[in-house]
Amino acid sequence: MSFPRAPWPHTRMRRMRKDDFSRRMMRESVLTPSDLIYPVFIIEGENRTETVASMPGVERMSIDLLCREAEELAALGVPAMALFPSTPAEAKSLDAAEAWNPDGLVQRCTRAIKAAVPAMAVITDVALDPFTIHGQDGILDEDGYVLNEETVQALVRQALSHAEAGADFVAPSDMMDGRIGEIRQALEDNHHILTRIMAYSAKYASAYYGPFRDAVGSAGNLGKADKNTYQMDPGNSDEALHEIALDLAEGADVVMVKPGMPYLDVIRRVKDEFKVPVFAYQVSGEYAMHMAAFQNGWLDEDKVMMESLLAFKRAGASGILTYFAKRAAQRLQNQPS
Ligand code: PBG
Repeated sequence: MSFPRAPWPHTRMRRMRKDDFSRRMMRESVLTPSDLIYPVFIIEGENRTETVASMPGVERMSIDLLCREAEELAALGVPAMALFPSTPAEAKSLDAAEAWNPDGLVQRCTRAIKAAVPAMAVITDVALDPFTIHGQDGILDEDGYVLNEETVQALVRQALSHAEAGADFVAPSDMMDGRIGEIRQALEDNHHILTRIMAYSAKYASAYYGPFRDAVGSAGNLGKADKNTYQMDPGNSDEALHEIALDLAEGADVVMVKPGMPYLDVIRRVKDEFKVPVFAYQVSGEYAMHMAAFQNGWLDEDKVMMESLLAFKRAGASGILTYFAKRAAQRLQNQPS
């Protein structure tokens, strides 16, 4: 009997793919609960939740319920939560002073979670958009341009108030120039030398943030305006490397690329160039797209969710902010990869 032969040198890529054991043995990237960060939306009140129409399965929650979430997430092995406030309209202003109110939603929620579940890392967002009546991330001049230095001063106050409340990471997502250095200096000067900075360094002016702006209630304030004078042009990636270099030099501990899946190439470039922890944000619009397909039965929920997250690991991300964090961790507990 003669068999058809593979050509010399008899390379058969399918040998290692034949069995589960050899597939597992050559797997290059794996997802674990330690890779996941859960973004959550805070509201006032007790024992309250609100649904977010454009993010099925995501609920805004009162602080007491978020403490329970923190317990569940810790038990699942998820190391961190990222807090975003849904600020009542009456607390918004032109100068965003609510951002550094020691009794603001984020500050109270940080204290509550750190008291209830000390092992859960709390990451707070440093940007003014949930607190301004126009929904921009900073302070405006008469022409509506976001002022850099004035905004950075406000961000420093906001970051300090988060550190004082016990935040483990402050995460500036505003894209002002020089803010990482100013925040780092203020943290050092105020004895918060170990408060980490997770810098939203390569943050693009993306239309994928729409559902998030619904969730924090800034969409109506922003209207048709955009953030193109401070967030990055989606066509650029050399510029992302420049931004990352600056944020690292100014004292960032972790840098981030955002959005996620449409920017995997940027994650890979940043990782190859700098060899530092790079995090990715699978943003609200990416979540909404996935959920729409799942709810229509067009895509397999579990499998596509896990594949989308694994892709970030392959691209070089050390951590992934994702609204799927809890579901993915539950799935990993039942079926570790
Ligand atoms: C605030 C901020 C935004 C997101 C995180 N922090 C929105 C924006 O810049 O307009 C987006 C997160 C998401 O879409 O899931 N500066």
